[in-house]
Amino acid sequence: MKTKGTVTGIISNLVTIEVDGPVAQNEICFIDLGGTKLMAEVIKVTGKEAFVQVYESTRGLRAGDKAEFQGHMLEVDLGPGILSSIYDGLQNNLETMNGVFLTRGEYTAALDSEKRWEFTPIAKVGEEVIAADWIGEVKEGWLPHKIMVPFSFEGSYKIKSIVDAGQYIIDDTIAILTDENGNDHKVTMKQKWPVKVPITKYIDKPRPFRIMETRVRVIDTFNPIAEGGTGFIPGPFGSGKTVLQHAISKQAEADVIIFAACGERANEVVEIFTEFPQLVDARSGRMLMERTTIICNTSNMPVAAREASVYTAMTIGEYYRSMGLKVLLLADSTSRWAQALREMSNRMEELPGADAFPMDLPAIISSFYARAGIVNLNNGETGSVTFIGTVSPAGGNLKEPVTESTKKAARCFFALSQNRADRKRYPAVDPIDSYSKYLEYPEIVEDFKNKIDEDWVERVFRGKNIVLRGKEAYEQINILGDDGVPLDYHKKYWKSELIDFVILQQDAFDKIDANCPMERQSYMFNLVLDICEKEFDFEDFEECGNYYKKLINILRQMNYTEFHSAEFEKYLEQLNNEINNGK
Ligand SMILES: Nc1ncnc2c1ncn2[C@@H]1O[C@H](COP(=O)(O)OP(=O)(O)OP(=O)(O)O)[C@@H](O)[C@H]1O
Ligand SMILES: [Mg+2]
Repeated sequence: MKTKGTVTGIISNLVTIEVDGPVAQNEICFIDLGGTKLMAEVIKVTGKEAFVQVYESTRGLRAGDKAEFQGHMLEVDLGPGILSSIYDGLQNNLETMNGVFLTRGEYTAALDSEKRWEFTPIAKVGEEVIAADWIGEVKEGWLPHKIMVPFSFEGSYKIKSIVDAGQYIIDDTIAILTDENGNDHKVTMKQKWPVKVPITKYIDKPRPFRIMETRVRVIDTFNPIAEGGTGFIPGPFGSGKTVLQHAISKQAEADVIIFAACGERANEVVEIFTEFPQLVDARSGRMLMERTTIICNTSNMPVAAREASVYTAMTIGEYYRSMGLKVLLLADSTSRWAQALREMSNRMEELPGADAFPMDLPAIISSFYARAGIVNLNNGETGSVTFIGTVSPAGGNLKEPVTESTKKAARCFFALSQNRADRKRYPAVDPIDSYSKYLEYPEIVEDFKNKIDEDWVERVFRGKNIVLRGKEAYEQINILGDDGVPLDYHKKYWKSELIDFVILQQDAFDKIDANCPMERQSYMFNLVLDICEKEFDFEDFEECGNYYKKLINILRQMNYTEFHSAEFEKYLEQLNNEINNGK
């Protein structure tokens, strides 16, 4: 028996409903508006009254309208066909709508129920299995998509039967499992999972222990992110958050990309619709969209749907992680999500926290970031969800609550600076403010040792130090004038410029420069650091500046040239000549 209710109050999309039975926190209900069913989620229950947030506009809704509770939370459909789809926060397939946003009360199927998939069994009859064990595989694009024992199955099961290799639709029964009491359960290629509950069907979640190459120098070389790690990109409007996230998604060492476009402006989402499907995967040369899912909500959609979208994205990420894949989850921007939380909490007249955000904002953000991670699966394989979100702090103020709370939850901080963006120093990641905590993890230091160099991390810190000294020198020069400071200050400044121009800056729109593998990054960084650690004699600050400008010029040409090509070697020779002359 489903619990029923009657609408008693409406404030925008917060609706109060008097109920005739039990309802659970986060339960889904449908409110009947003259035949149109509006989906809503329970966010508070007091006595006979349930407060629900409606995922649609509530225009025309009246007190007295009827609601029906569904007995389950907001769920997503998990199965083959998620990749290359474009969904909204409630997993409505937007492509089937030709990119036109759904009309109110309209819900579309997330997965194609007619498409036939080439299924190959993995498990055998008689085998004992538990939730999330792989029992079969289909090819989704070119990725192996594992069909798993549904996550909701508790305890252990025996495989009673499993179908032969062949073509099946997602709703076909592909296996029958017998539980410990002798009851049979049918398994299809599709399962459901509530988005707000993390999927934890794995052995353990160790600390991230290996780096994830993004081919963005300011990240990999200076502020590396770990596989299964977390990072965020705060930045004022137009400072390059989206460009940076796109670069990462095209180039990162990941199998699956999930892009949650959360409440950005409507025209931006249109850009995602048109741009993303055209992006080419820097690694395979195929279309990036083949292994990407986009979940988008614009700021003109109701706030509640924005909140749902980040959870939907994370749940899909966890699903692919359970298949032993490397998932990269990007959310742009999490500020819009936080604003959605604020709107709701204000309507509920809760006691507000800082800047009127809900008091538990830090807890909400950190428990969301905590769902990322690298995990050891039951079968000894690993899978990971790496999460990078953007934050758009109002007025570029990094002390506002969303940035502050996210800073506590994420391990990498890629702060975009207005000043660098204004000077066209892209990506505008501030070298002083930004950091990666992973550089302090012994496991990560070890990983760098094995993959690059014995003393790599130590050298990186030396590089960071040069940048910091350069900034101090720059400030002194600004105050006292070129002639007012010792020559040494100019040297310090130009060394940091060398690192800035050659390592930190990277043209996201140049085919070669944009896509800089770790091997090339370490080569260039070693080259630049060695130059920085040399001492040259100059007559005056002008000679000093001119000399370093010359070096910067050559090194930048190298960045735009095919690695180790004849042309590249020519520049290298030129560089060496300059350095020898400089002595
Ligand atoms: N790495 C880069 N290389 C070259 N140009 C860049 C780079 N990053 C950003 N830009 C320039 O900055 C512009 C704005 O970038 P982007 O749209 O990513 O900003 P944003 O921070 O996402 O803005 P908003 O706050 O409006 O969402 C781009 O259109 C591009 O011209
Ligand atoms: Mg943007």
